Amino acid sequence: MRKILLLNNEKMVIEAYEDAIQSGDKRWAIHLADNDIQALKIIESENIEAIISTPIIQNTDVVGLFNIIKERHPQIIRVLQSNLLESTAIQKELLKKFKSTHMLLIRGLFDFKQFMQDLENIFQYSALISNGKLKNLVSNINSLPSLPELYIRINEKLNTEDASLREIAGIIKHDVSMTAEILKVVNSSLFGFANKISSIEQAVALLGIEMIKTLVLSLKLFSQFPRMDQISVSIDELWDHSFLTAVFAGRIAFAVTKDKNVQENAFTAGLLHDIGMITLASQMPQTYKKAYEDAFINKTPINYSENKFFEVSHCEVGAYLAGLWSLPLDICRSIARHHLPDVSENEPDILTLAVHCADVFAQSLKDKNQGLPLEELNPQLNHIELFMDNHEQWFSMCEEIIESENNNSKT
Ligand SMILES: [Fe+2]
Ligand SMILES: [Fe+2]
Repeated sequence: MRKILLLNNEKMVIEAYEDAIQSGDKRWAIHLADNDIQALKIIESENIEAIISTPIIQNTDVVGLFNIIKERHPQIIRVLQSNLLESTAIQKELLKKFKSTHMLLIRGLFDFKQFMQDLENIFQYSALISNGKLKNLVSNINSLPSLPELYIRINEKLNTEDASLREIAGIIKHDVSMTAEILKVVNSSLFGFANKISSIEQAVALLGIEMIKTLVLSLKLFSQFPRMDQISVSIDELWDHSFLTAVFAGRIAFAVTKDKNVQENAFTAGLLHDIGMITLASQMPQTYKKAYEDAFINKTPINYSENKFFEVSHCEVGAYLAGLWSLPLDICRSIARHHLPDVSENEPDILTLAVHCADVFAQSLKDKNQGLPLEELNPQLNHIELFMDNHEQWFSMCEEIIESENNNSKT
């Protein structure tokens, strides 16, 4: 039985949970506390695996408590639960203050069934980032890229009942440079739209809210990284590679499944799959340079060399960040496993398979991969039917996308 501590002082929540616990799911033991002293007592006496707290509790310094837990019990997963209806400014402030949080749960606690699902996700996510070195490394990074304000505002709007495409476009249009960047990206010949897209409304209508939201998130995240010579990874080149991977992953997912969710997630995961790479490279440029050179000299994939020097790779760092930004677990998983390190033990899901293939195809068809050895399709995929039956066709499809892009740029 896994033990969870819920720190909350709203009477209604506590009562609802006390009732639910009585008749509850036997896989979880939920302990309740309404202040920090009580919380620490429970943590000392019970084998608590995760704490879920609201950011503000009367007479309790929740930030301080999370820091104490991080120091004394680093294995405990620290989850901050906050309702998106709170203002954007508060959300932004929270992410800045709660550096030692592993995960942000953006929803209320009244739906107990949903909460149980969240618990499942929290533990699956935790298993993905179970490397103790990773938790240490990321909690020592001073400025983790934070969730962009515009993205939070779009999510806030989407959480209201009356959200319309026009309103979402209206929110984006307030940010003039973002509007220009999105239009530039959606007019890229890689998307293959026949006519020029000249307004955000048109872009939202054609691509859908989820994809536009993903573009806002990724463009803003990439813009948070400093463009410095000391960083071995070129942010602009990594953006081009990530965008190509996203387009390919989206198309592969489209060819495999009718599930729109998987198609959209493939695009998002493609855009963010290497986000851990720039995080490591910009936060620890000297060590990263060594890892980078090691990969180049020994002709090994960059994740091998990252593991040598950091004991984690960009895959886990990226998955950690995706979880911190509340992206779906499927996306975190595909980012964590996009190099398929342990495919023999566990078959990759469609999303992970699409991102892995898209990443490899993007490198072999277009990118120079910044001088690093090219990734290859994981040979262990050869026993997976879905892959064996389709990968040649997927590659030709991606080749055609590049050919038509080349033709367009000539005309
Ligand atoms: Fe990668
Ligand atoms: Fe990549």
